[in-house]
Amino acid sequence: MHYLSIEGKQKLQGSVSISGAKNAALPLLAATLLSKNKINISNVPNVADVKTLLKLLGNLGASSSYDNNHVTIDTTTVKSACANYDIVRKMRASILTLGPLLARFGHCEVSLPGGCAIGQRPIDLHLKALEQMGAIIELEQGYVVAKAPDGLKGTTIIFDKVTVTGSENILMAASLAHGTTKLVNVAKEPEVVQLCEVLQNAGVKIDGIGTSQLTIVGSGGNLLDIQDFTVIPDRIEAGTYLCAGAITNSKITITNVIPKHMEAITLKLERMGFGIETTNNSITISPASKILPADIETTEYPGFPTDMQAQFMALCTQADGTSIIDERLFENRFMHVSELCRMGATVKLKGHSATVGGNSELNAADVMATDLRASSALILAAFVAEGTTKVHRIYHLDRGYENLEGKFSALGAKIERLEE
Ligand code: UD1
Repeated sequence: MHYLSIEGKQKLQGSVSISGAKNAALPLLAATLLSKNKINISNVPNVADVKTLLKLLGNLGASSSYDNNHVTIDTTTVKSACANYDIVRKMRASILTLGPLLARFGHCEVSLPGGCAIGQRPIDLHLKALEQMGAIIELEQGYVVAKAPDGLKGTTIIFDKVTVTGSENILMAASLAHGTTKLVNVAKEPEVVQLCEVLQNAGVKIDGIGTSQLTIVGSGGNLLDIQDFTVIPDRIEAGTYLCAGAITNSKITITNVIPKHMEAITLKLERMGFGIETTNNSITISPASKILPADIETTEYPGFPTDMQAQFMALCTQADGTSIIDERLFENRFMHVSELCRMGATVKLKGHSATVGGNSELNAADVMATDLRASSALILAAFVAEGTTKVHRIYHLDRGYENLEGKFSALGAKIERLEE
C-alpha cells in the first residue's frame, strides 16, 4: 500500500490545471448505456472511480479505451444488465447504471452499494421514483432486481430530498421512457446540468435545465444519438487547491475552471480575508493579512458543498478565531476530525455541528484517510504542520484526485508517494 509523506511549513506558488469532474464523468459514462453509437469523451479525469465504472461497463459488454484523459466507448454491444457486487461494492456511484439499464433492457439487477464511510446513504429515492415510473422492484440477496417489461412510463415525481445521483438516475431513465416525466425538487449541481445538456444534444427534449424542475420527453425506448462531449472541470478538486493556497497563505492560480461553479467556495474564501481574482477560466487566490474565522453550512448547489467541508475545516484551524461548521447533508461526515485533532486541531462536535478552534499549531503525525475528501483535509493540514506527516490509506484519494502529488509538487509542496 502507498502513503503520502508531506513536509510541512512550505509555501506554494505557481499555477495548477484542474482535471475533469469525477462527479460529472460518472453519470455521463453511465449515460453512454443509452447510446446507439460510439462516443468520444474528452477531459475524463484519470482517477480510480472512473476506471471502476469503465470496468463495470466492460463487464456488461461495452468496449472502451482510455488514453490521455480521452475515453472512446461503445455500449452498443452490451448484453448483460447485471451490475455485480464485486464492482459495485468498490464504488457507490455504480448505482448510476440502474436507471439506464432498466430503461434500455426493461429489466436489470444492480447490487446494493452497501455501507459507506460517510453515513448510511440510502437509495430509497431512486427506487421510489422508478416504481412511480412503473418499475417493479424487489431486493433479493443484496441486489436491486428491477423489471419494467413494457418500458418505463413518464409521470410526475417529487423528490422528498434533493439527491444528486438520484436526480441523475431518474433523468437518464426518463430520457428513454414512454411519455413525459416531470421531476420536481431536482438537484441543480453543474454535474446534473451537464448530463441534461448531453441528453438534450442527443435529441431528448428537456425543459427547465439548471432549475429544480425538469420536464423530459422520453424517446419511447429508442436509443439516443449521444454526441461527443468534454467533461466540465472538477469544482471540488479546484476548491481543494484553492484551500491549499489559503492554508499556506500563498498566491496560486488554478486554471481550466468555471468560476461560476465555484462561487460558494470563492465567496467563503473572500470572507475569510483572501484575495480572489477570476478570469473566464481561472481563479487566483492571494494571501490574507489575517485569516478570519468562518461560519459554514453545507447544503445543495448553489450552496456550500459538503464535498468541501473537510478541507475548510483544516483551513479554519489556522483562522484567527473560532469557526462553526454545520454539516447538513451527511450524518457521519466528520470522520476526519479525530485525525485532525491528532495533529493538534481543536474541534468540538455536537450533532451535525463542529466548533473549530483557530490559531492551532499543527504537528506532523501518522494519520489515516477515511474517505475521499477527508483525505485531502489531512494533506492540507500537513502543509502547515511542523515536521513530516504521513497520510495512510490514500486509495481513498486516488478515487477522486488525478495526479495529486504531481500537481502539488509542481506548486512547490514537498510531497511524495511512498510504499508502506
Ligand atoms: C453526490 C456526490 C457526492 C456529494 C453528494 C452531495 C456523486 C457521484 N457523488 O452523492 O460527492 O457529496 O452528492 O452533494 O455525484 N438520500 C436519501 N435517499 C436517497 C438518496 C439520497 O435519503 O435515495 C439522502 C442522503 O443520505 C443525503 C442526501 O440525500 O443525506 C443527499 O445525498 P445525494 O445527493 O443522493 O448524494 P449522492 O448522490 O450519493
